[in-house]
Amino acid sequence: MHLTKEDERILAGEQGNAAAKSMKILVALGEIFKAEELIPVGSVQIAGVSFANLGDAGLEYLAELAIDGQVKVTSTLNPAGMDLREWEKLGITSEFAEKQNKVIEAFAKMGVITTCTCTPYLIGNLPAYGEHVAWAESSAVTFVNSVIGARSNREGGPSAIAAAMIGKTPSYGFHLDENRKPQFHVEVKAKIESIADWGALGYAIGSQSDRRIPYITGLSTTTTDNLKSFGASIITYGSPPLYHIKGVTPEASLHKPPKEKVTVTKEDLDEAYKSLNDEATEVDFVSLGCPHASMREIAEVATYLKGKKVKEGVELWIATARPTKDIADERGYTKIIEDAGGKMAVDTCMVVAPIKGRFKTMATTSAKACFYARGKNKMQVHIGDFTECLNAAVDGVWKK
Ligand code: F3S
Repeated sequence: MHLTKEDERILAGEQGNAAAKSMKILVALGEIFKAEELIPVGSVQIAGVSFANLGDAGLEYLAELAIDGQVKVTSTLNPAGMDLREWEKLGITSEFAEKQNKVIEAFAKMGVITTCTCTPYLIGNLPAYGEHVAWAESSAVTFVNSVIGARSNREGGPSAIAAAMIGKTPSYGFHLDENRKPQFHVEVKAKIESIADWGALGYAIGSQSDRRIPYITGLSTTTTDNLKSFGASIITYGSPPLYHIKGVTPEASLHKPPKEKVTVTKEDLDEAYKSLNDEATEVDFVSLGCPHASMREIAEVATYLKGKKVKEGVELWIATARPTKDIADERGYTKIIEDAGGKMAVDTCMVVAPIKGRFKTMATTSAKACFYARGKNKMQVHIGDFTECLNAAVDGVWKK
């Protein structure tokens, strides 16, 4: 891989240990993937923030980088293992909170904006069409590649930090035109309406994609919220972090539908719903905001909950980013949600928070949340739209 004179000087340690270590990671990655050069990135999104995933070894790694490391581009964080301000409210222990705060302190020392969210594009870190970025969280990478037409590989924790320290990433994978072409055609012949339908569609396409990029037809334009949920689902169930939808996503018009075609019918969607719903009907956890809830979604939750009460024994979390919560506070939505017994789960989510063993059955709008709640937290799950999930929060029972 070609390195500029400056790249070589950084590699030799001219800008300190953290920069040299970061350059080493980028060069190794570039060589593995046969990149020709390092290209500048406009922003970085760093995953691997929850202490539950990092552990002491991860914390040590970050603390060492923070000794002399400084990020060179706008960099934000994925959700942490707790609400950074009101962690007790979510049942987090003080031992965990202490470690999680040290993780955040290390990132802050490196110059990272410590907003912890998987939807940075909703709160001011929005790349432009064609812009190269180095993002890590799978749903966020899928969103910026597909819906925005920006270019990112799915970075790992260390490679995202390395890109942030250098302001560059190796030019391979989804940064290159030739790797962004659709590889099979999906014709959707089912009606896709609610957010849960988009999640089920992501399941239906992702599970037959075989890591190939789909070119999807048969859908009409929809909301950002539905597309963020669809992206989270399709990559969770097997697609790469890029899809094209004719008439909806910007790069679809650059391509013709590939020859190989599969069809998604109402029966396929019913099948997806069947796979995303378990037997248990008694719900003790309702998790909304995967990916992190938008202002519109929080408004929908508050409108539903006004004057209602979450059933005793049921916990309702609305996961979102701090700046979105601040607006919800101002608009009075937080008060309505909290008066009803719901909790704003800010800076975190049900997957990265250490909640294993606390709940048995979860209702959610997110197909991605179903996957991790089953696999990581051993819960039974149900997927539905906002009203169905909130009905379950109020009744404690899943009805469909
Ligand atoms: Fe975001 Fe957590 Fe879902 S990181 S995409 S809310 S699993």
